[in-house]
Amino acid sequence: MRYLPAVVCLAGLATAFPFIAKQPGIQNTHLLLRQQSGSGPGSAATCPFNPNHQDAIPVSDEYPYNSAINGSAGKGIGGYLVPAPGDPDHQFIAPTDQDIRGPCPGLNAAANYGFLSRDGITTYSELTDAVQNVYNMGYDLAQFLALISIIVADGDIITKKVSIGCDATTRTASPLSISGSEPGLDGHNKFEGDVSLTRDDFFLANGDDFDFNGTLFGMMAEVTGGTFDLEGLGTYRYQRYVQSREENPEMFFGPLGLFQYGAAAFVYELMPSGADNYVPTLENTASFFGAEQQPNGTWTHVPERIPANWTNRISPFTLLDVVGQISAMYGAHPVGIGGNVDGAFVGLDFPPYIEGGNLTAATPADYACFLYQLISGPIPSSLNSVITPLVEALEFVLVEVGGETFTNLGCPVPLTR
Ligand code: HEM
Ligand SMILES: *[C@@H]1O[C@H](CO)[C@@H](O)[C@H](O)[C@H]1NC(C)=O
Ligand SMILES: *[C@@H]1O[C@H](CO)[C@@H](O)[C@H](O)[C@H]1NC(C)=O
Ligand SMILES: *[C@@H]1O[C@H](CO)[C@@H](O)[C@H](O)[C@H]1NC(C)=O
Ligand SMILES: *[C@@H]1O[C@H](CO)[C@@H](O)[C@H](O)[C@H]1NC(C)=O
Ligand SMILES: *[C@@H]1O[C@H](CO)[C@@H](O)[C@H](O)[C@H]1NC(C)=O
Repeated sequence: MRYLPAVVCLAGLATAFPFIAKQPGIQNTHLLLRQQSGSGPGSAATCPFNPNHQDAIPVSDEYPYNSAINGSAGKGIGGYLVPAPGDPDHQFIAPTDQDIRGPCPGLNAAANYGFLSRDGITTYSELTDAVQNVYNMGYDLAQFLALISIIVADGDIITKKVSIGCDATTRTASPLSISGSEPGLDGHNKFEGDVSLTRDDFFLANGDDFDFNGTLFGMMAEVTGGTFDLEGLGTYRYQRYVQSREENPEMFFGPLGLFQYGAAAFVYELMPSGADNYVPTLENTASFFGAEQQPNGTWTHVPERIPANWTNRISPFTLLDVVGQISAMYGAHPVGIGGNVDGAFVGLDFPPYIEGGNLTAATPADYACFLYQLISGPIPSSLNSVITPLVEALEFVLVEVGGETFTNLGCPVPLTR
């Protein structure tokens, strides 16, 4: 059952960055054209179905990892082996053709070890627990990403479920859910976007914006010289941006494109192993991406694996840490924020954060406030009387997430009551 169109419309307000729809040249229709259709890659019609969904098994007293359980804050102390030797519940099992995987190598790997539900239908709690227990991601960043993946992007704010890949609305939505379809993390121009490291642009691959592309992985390894460091990945991301802008007539690099820099930072911040003194290596990175090199040098895909003897990072990687990396990586090669429209690049305006396609953010705090504004700003307080569960769910998470970090940074907290 779905609510009335009026409600759907309001829900759209809360999720679709209304300012984009007001840009001259970039109409809603442009954005809609750039999203998944009802069939084809990523759609419900082609999405794997596992009739035997099982929730992820939580960490235990015997194998505590960071003791992150039920969506709460874990200890935030890493430097341990993952999976824990002997832990029967979190060993590698390759996904079957009934299991969903998507554009995020970090989450695909977590699902392959049962830190997320192995069928790829996961929840807010599983996400925040998994990234803390496996990667020692900070609780604030864990909540922020889980929140975005569910409300802004691709999941269901009532059930707090999301598919880590294709559209599995029948399994993520509840009868009370207000969004029409829930595309999962594959959903284009929501969280997933153009100019990814190893995934094709949506338009260039008939909507397959989530499968691993070995040519791109090879380019990333070559451009970074196998170091996968800030400088190398910044250069690679810049080349990918230029490539997309030239090759993809439907290229759209909106404000959430900034997250792509964060994802790139995860490669050298979250994936390296204590066994390698936390220096990224080709072998280690390839394992997480599920990249396997053939004798002729090309890269093909195998299930993502946590490398043998992998020891996670010692201090938690926080929201402020990641915006610091986004700021440094984007700042090294600033690029226009906007999209190709009828053969020309149109820059967005979102004052004071984006002017004429130029990002005005300078400090990490600027970036943090901008990202916070993006996900929380579009929630009009007028929704309160209309869709109470929506606003309450949003408030719950935003206040929890925003509570300390963002007010400490001096961000205007946009929630109104
Ligand atoms: C709740 C946590 C997370 C969420 C919701 C999430 C979501 C996503 C999404 C939607 C993408 C696709 C972006 C795009 O390319 O268009 C992505 C990409 C990526 N994520 Fe995650 N992610 C999470 C945690 C992690 C972690 C813990 C790691 C690393 C250990 C990671 C590493 C990456 C990398 C490297 C990419 C880029 C892949 C590529 O472009 O080839 N992510 N993530
Ligand atoms: C987690 O939630 C479950 C179910 O609500 C509950 O039984 C369990 O005690 C909780 N565990 C912790 C550590 O909060
Ligand atoms: C992989 O990426 C390369 C470089 O962008 C592109 O030419 C190729 O068509 C892509 N391959 C697939 C299978 O999508
Ligand atoms: C390289 O080897 C793989 C696996 O054997 C094969 O599928 C692919 O076509 C080869 N590519 C080239 C360019 O020779
Ligand atoms: C992992 O550690 C064990 C024990 O220290 C060692 O025997 C093994 O060679 C290591 N494996 C890898 C791939 O480093
Ligand atoms: C950004 O600012 C520069 C001038 O500094 C201008 O040339 C450019 O067109 C602006 N917009 C974009 C999208 O780069």
